[in-house]
Amino acid sequence: MTDHMPDDLSAVGRDMRAYTDELRPRHGVVRNVQGEWVLLRHELVVEAALSDDRFSNAVSSHLQIPNGMDSDEHTAYRDALDRFLTPDALAPFHERFRRVAADLVASLPRDVAVDAVSQVGVRFAVRAQSAWLGWPADLEDRLVAWVAENHAATRSGDKAWTQKVAESFDDLILSVLEPRRAARGDDTDDLTARLMQTEVSGRRLTDAEIVSVLRNWTGGDLGSIAQCVGVLIHYLATHPAVQDHLRAGVPDAEIDAIIDEILRIDDPFLSNRRVTTCPVAIGGVQLPQGARVKLNWTSANRDEATFGNPDSMDPERNADRNLVYGIGKHACPGRWLATLEMRIALQELLAATSSIALDPQQSTERAASPVGGWAKVAVVLA
Ligand code: HEM
Repeated sequence: MTDHMPDDLSAVGRDMRAYTDELRPRHGVVRNVQGEWVLLRHELVVEAALSDDRFSNAVSSHLQIPNGMDSDEHTAYRDALDRFLTPDALAPFHERFRRVAADLVASLPRDVAVDAVSQVGVRFAVRAQSAWLGWPADLEDRLVAWVAENHAATRSGDKAWTQKVAESFDDLILSVLEPRRAARGDDTDDLTARLMQTEVSGRRLTDAEIVSVLRNWTGGDLGSIAQCVGVLIHYLATHPAVQDHLRAGVPDAEIDAIIDEILRIDDPFLSNRRVTTCPVAIGGVQLPQGARVKLNWTSANRDEATFGNPDSMDPERNADRNLVYGIGKHACPGRWLATLEMRIALQELLAATSSIALDPQQSTERAASPVGGWAKVAVVLA
């Protein structure tokens, strides 16, 4: 319950995980400097995510498929798009992801520092997503530059810059669509080409819709997967027993559960937005209709009332309550793809090394809100 409601909270420049750890024991809900109501506790975040009639996803005037949509419209798009992301649909990509990971790991220097975020996470995320979508390798540098600029713009809080960066991504995507539209035949039978043939409610997706879907599948997720890889490598470097256990070889289901649990402990995917459709009482706070709300997954995933000691690793016990991929109608459709990519990245990294350790010469750096996880994790591979 909120005994006192602070109303001038600014997370700018702070490590969001540490900051919400400080706030959560005293406050279930806080109001930030933008006037948004931030839900910090597990039960409140779950309540809001499951009450999609009271907490709408229509938070932006931009077309956001499917995350900016509600009710039947949202369901129609999820039905049309989720089929690309099922474990069965992903099976043909395992070997491609393995090659991407193995080549990247082989190219990393040994016995000198490597940044787990920029040199491993970002590069792997961009190459794996491009392999999945059938995008040309020469887009890699543009995508990497885009991830960096997107982080910088998001961090700056400068809306005009963020908008410009979003538009530059649209241009990049259109450059991928054009040759597929012009070409005919087998060479265009990749995932992007199939998305262009996809129908929703009996008609083909428009260009604007395809760009929006691809922006969701890449724009945000390249950053998420990259940050998650940084968190995972940091955890392995600082928990040699877990590292050795995984290196010895464990079943895929076990490594997946461990990945989920590491990401629960340090969830770099900080929050998602909602807007109330009516007056709502939540966590002892009365929200008016039209209130802007944030579901803070990182904080909810560390709620002592739900998990006890948030840092204690217990994949089996915590799996059902883990919110890394959200909950309810908007729960992440990309979780199998993300998990598969991260599992393969770790397996290849562990198989090609006998040790991953933090570089004693350099300090690690936490990322600053609104980016979660680590900004830099210098590790030495041996
Ligand atoms: C480790 C990486 C990822 C994390 C931590 C993550 C996390 C999440 C979370 C927490 C949500 C719920 C949002 C909400 O309730 O408002 C979500 C939604 C979504 N995710 Fe992911 N995600 C990841 C990777 C991916 C990937 C690889 C894809 C697709 C290629 C993807 C596509 C989406 C889409 C389209 C939505 C919106 C779903 C909807 O509104 O119905 N995500 N993700």
